[in-house]
This record gives sequence, structure tokens and C-alpha cells, in this order.
Amino acid sequence: MQKLIINGGKKLNGEIRIQGAKNAALPIMAASVLCGENIILRNCPKISDVYSAMRILTYLGCKAGFEEGSGVVSLNAESISCSEISDELMREMRSSIFFLGAVLGRTGRCRITLPGGCDLGPRPIDMHLAALRKMGVSIHEEYGALDCVAENGLHGAKISLSFPSVGTTENIMLAAVLAEGTTIIHNAAREPEIADLAEFLNRCGAKISGAGGGKITVSGVKKLHGCEYDIMPDRIACATYLACAASAGGELVITGCRPSDEENILPVFEQMGCIVHTVDDKIFFSAKRPLKAVAPIRTMVYPGFPTDAQAFVMAALCKAKGTSVFVENIFENRYKHVGGLTRMGADILVEGKVAVIEGVNRLYGVKTEAPDLRGGAGLVTAALAAEGTSEISNVHYIDRGYEDIEKVLSSAGADIKRI
Ligand code: UD1
Repeated sequence: MQKLIINGGKKLNGEIRIQGAKNAALPIMAASVLCGENIILRNCPKISDVYSAMRILTYLGCKAGFEEGSGVVSLNAESISCSEISDELMREMRSSIFFLGAVLGRTGRCRITLPGGCDLGPRPIDMHLAALRKMGVSIHEEYGALDCVAENGLHGAKISLSFPSVGTTENIMLAAVLAEGTTIIHNAAREPEIADLAEFLNRCGAKISGAGGGKITVSGVKKLHGCEYDIMPDRIACATYLACAASAGGELVITGCRPSDEENILPVFEQMGCIVHTVDDKIFFSAKRPLKAVAPIRTMVYPGFPTDAQAFVMAALCKAKGTSVFVENIFENRYKHVGGLTRMGADILVEGKVAVIEGVNRLYGVKTEAPDLRGGAGLVTAALAAEGTSEISNVHYIDRGYEDIEKVLSSAGADIKRI
């Protein structure tokens, strides 16, 4: 089992280039199923969820792989030969669910089991299934598998989401691209990754408008063609490395990011007392000591504060002067990193969806384990500011979303290695 060994107390200094976005790459890879031609994706992160998506594509009879030594993925779904995904592959990650909309759109049927992924509390797919039913899909459940068939093909529909779910919005878009007629999604999720998926699909010949806003219109087309596409930068990885710098201290230049996508997070670092300056695709970041507590943070759908940033921003606040409060509104079980943080000496009280953090003067290195992807990043963030050595196991969770986290951080001066 791999572990990260972190000797805390080293400041971060230097430049970090941001990887491509996990949450854009995964739906875009699923979308490649809809095209019968070559697709080239640049800036694709080398993370384990991307390799899981490749395994699903290969299982379906498609070609998928990184071009050697690069972040360029080439995909070809011309010879798709299967419309069923094994339970083992479905369980590897939550994003396996994107293949439902894409495979249905391409072949008119898809048999899957329930997706896996980080345990953040109940993560149902009821909204995905209800939307697909409206588009002409009949769904039969047998022995834990979902057999989904669009007997007369998929057709457009008006779909009003009761909650702007990211995955549901993307799955509907995937199913709608080759459907007969027009699909309108009301109360669509507005995360930037949705606009990235739409832009990719439009490059392939789809007709999608309004993505990034609350009303998305997809006019069905007969066929998609191949394209070359640059995956957007990962706004959550960017925020993670800023939190690491806030926690450890120092000065970072983040390059290859989109500062406009960070506008829901940067003000929180400014409240902590950090100095943030953005120019083009760069963020100049300077962490001042001591950090200050911040006004209550409520996780919300975009453009609110992202639930994905809650764990590592909380970790950075463990040593801030004063009291900070989080309200987690998106997932029910997203405070699993708190156990590891308190073992490091943090003072955190969790009551339902609220967490209260009283800043402490010191954190101490401990042996702990990543509870999930972002929770694991939170423990790394705290360990960088802790006295002594931390040992973080379950690194496979962290590898789902961060490309070579230990190399990135050590290039900026952290004392971190993988064993
Ligand atoms: C996506 C992101 C994830 C992020 C989350 C919220 C990807 C690959 N993952 O996950 O990193 O944390 O958005 O920003 O993009 N829900 C239902 N029924 C459904 C679907 C969702 O009840 O059918 C609930 C979920 O349980 C959750 C909430 O809606 O409480 C938000 O989920 P959703 O926006 O769908 O998140 P994901 O797409 O899973």
C-alpha cells in the first residue's frame, strides 16, 4: 500500500502548473462514444479516474490511450461493440454514470450497475434516470443491474431539474446530442466543466447552447465527427495548491489556470490575509502569517463556494487565528477528514452539516489515512503545516484526482515523498 510521507514546516515557493480538469475530462471521454471518428484530447490529467474511463472505453470496444510521455489522449469509438459495462468497472468511480447517457445516445441501449466513487453519503442517480425516461428510455432493474433501452430511439424533452445536479445535467446533454428533436434543461447546473463539455461536443458538430447558464438547449443532430480539444484547467486542483501554500506559508505562482473560475474561492484566501493577484492565466499568491479566520463558508452549487474545496480550505484554517464555520450543503457525509485533522491537533466540532474550527497554534505530524479524494488533499494540506512527520495512507483516493501530487508539491519546496 502506498503512503505519502510529509515532513511539515517547509514553506512553498516557486511555480506550479495546473493539470487539466478531472471533472471536464471524464464526461468528455464518455462523450467520445458518441463520435465515430478520431478524437484528440490535450491537457488530459494522468489520474486514476482517467485510466478508469479508458478501461470502460476499451471494454466497450473503443480505442483509448495516452500518447507516450504526454498529456494527450487519443480516442476512437468507431468500432464500439458492446453496450454493457461490467459491475467491476462501474464501481471504480462515480463518473462511470456518464457512459449511460453516451452509450444510450450511440446505441439506443445500455446495461449498467450502480456507480461507485467516494463515499460522501447517499449519491443516488434518480434524477439521471427520471430524465432519461422522459427522453424515451425504459429502464428495468434486475439483479442489481439497470437495463436501459430506447426502443424507438431517444427523443428530445423539456426537463426541469429539482436540483441543479452536475452529473445529471451532463448525462442529459450526452443523451440529447444525437436524439431526435430538441431537449431543454431547466435549472441546469452551471459549473464551468459543463460549458467545457458543451464546447467539446459543439466542436464535434453538436448543437448546444446556453451551457454554463441555467437553461441549456440541445438540438439533436444526426452524427458527430472527430476533433482536437484542450481540456480546461482544473479549478479544484488550483484551489488545492493555493490552500497548501496558505497552510505551509510561502509564495506561489500558479500557471495555466483560469483565475475567473476561482472567483468563488480567492476571496476566502484574501480573508485569511493572503495576497492574491491574477494576470491572464496566472495567480500570484503570497501567504502571510498568521492566517486569519474567515466569515462562515456555505458550500453551494456554482457559482457558490464548491463542496470540493471544503476539506482543504478547512485544513488551511486549522492554524488560523479565530473561529471559522463551514456549512456543508451538497453532500451528507463530507467531513470524514475531520478525524485526521483533529488527530493532528486541530480543534474542530462537527454537528450535522456544520463544522466549527477554532484555530490552534500548532499541528503535529501523525499517521492517518485519506478518507476520500478531497479529504485526502485536506490531510496533505494540514500535514504541510504540521510539526514533524505525517504518514498518509490510502493514497489511491488522492490519485483519483491529482496528477503526481507529491512531485508537484516537492517541486515547490515541500518535503513530501511517496513510499
Ligand atoms: C459532481 C462532481 C463532484 C462535485 C459535485 C458537486 C464530477 C465528475 N463530479 O458530482 O466533484 O463534488 O458535482 O459539485 O463532475 N443527487 C441526487 N440524485 C441524482 C443526482 C444527484 O439526489 O440523481 C444529489 C447528490 O446526492 C448530491 C447532490 O445531488 O447530494 C449534488 O450531486 P451532483 O451535482 O449530481 O454531483 P455529481 O455529479 O455526483
